[in-house]
Amino acid sequence: MSNFNQLSLKLELNEILGDRKLENRPKIVAGNWKMHANLKDSQALIEDVGRFAKADANCKVIIIPPFTHIFPLSLIVEKNHYPLVMGAQNMYYEDKGAYTGEISPLMLVDLDIKYVLIGHSERRQLFNESNQIVNRKLQKALSHNLTPILCVGESLDEREAGLTDQVVKRQIVASLSTIDRESLANKFIVAYEPVWAIGTGQVCQANEANRVINLIRFTLSQHFKTKDNDTLFGDSIPILYGGSVKGSNAKELAVQPDIDGALVGGSSLIAPDFCEIIKAFS
Ligand code: PGA
Repeated sequence: MSNFNQLSLKLELNEILGDRKLENRPKIVAGNWKMHANLKDSQALIEDVGRFAKADANCKVIIIPPFTHIFPLSLIVEKNHYPLVMGAQNMYYEDKGAYTGEISPLMLVDLDIKYVLIGHSERRQLFNESNQIVNRKLQKALSHNLTPILCVGESLDEREAGLTDQVVKRQIVASLSTIDRESLANKFIVAYEPVWAIGTGQVCQANEANRVINLIRFTLSQHFKTKDNDTLFGDSIPILYGGSVKGSNAKELAVQPDIDGALVGGSSLIAPDFCEIIKAFS
């Protein structure tokens, strides 16, 4: 096909499908190590994942270890030129002050961290993080050019009561209430993590995860729609699935059109399993 014909076909397709199908979102696999692994084990783990990623990864791989491991692990990544980027599991919404035990976004920036989880369900459930706190953290992260990975998802009770869509929509809209779409451009990731699937071995059906993620895209598009600009904003945002992702179920998730990657807990601590997930999304 000539270049001219290719271009007109693309324009025609664009008219039929809108922005949607031609969107080229990055694939991302992120490993959330939570409060696991001592320094020695974590060094061995990052070596294994780094070597694999160097040879075989065709997606972005984000490693999210405990705070104390970030610096020593980044030295290993740098020295070996591993194609891994480091993220943090949390941050506070102030830059500095008398906040014993908290980590400032500026401390993350100091370590050249680019990604930070915000509103993980364990933070919401165990440390009482409300949508309002999540909103303040998002604002602060964005103001320092950090890319937040906003986690949303319903509990088992909410799912059983048929409230999944409502809960997820509310989390998205409330967390983003004071944030404009320009500040999110190219530095915003969402992770849909149904709480009942986290650490339980009970993965959400791939087509159901895809459906909720599609709803998140729609919610983002509606929320940021302006009169003169109705492009489908939600289709430009990478959205990951998280909750009992393993090497054995990653492929069926990866083929879903709206799932751009995985946020992995338990399996990110087992190098062969995590590498299998990277492979599925590469
Ligand atoms: P899991 O955790 O993979 O162990 O279910 C996911 C997460 O909490 O991000």
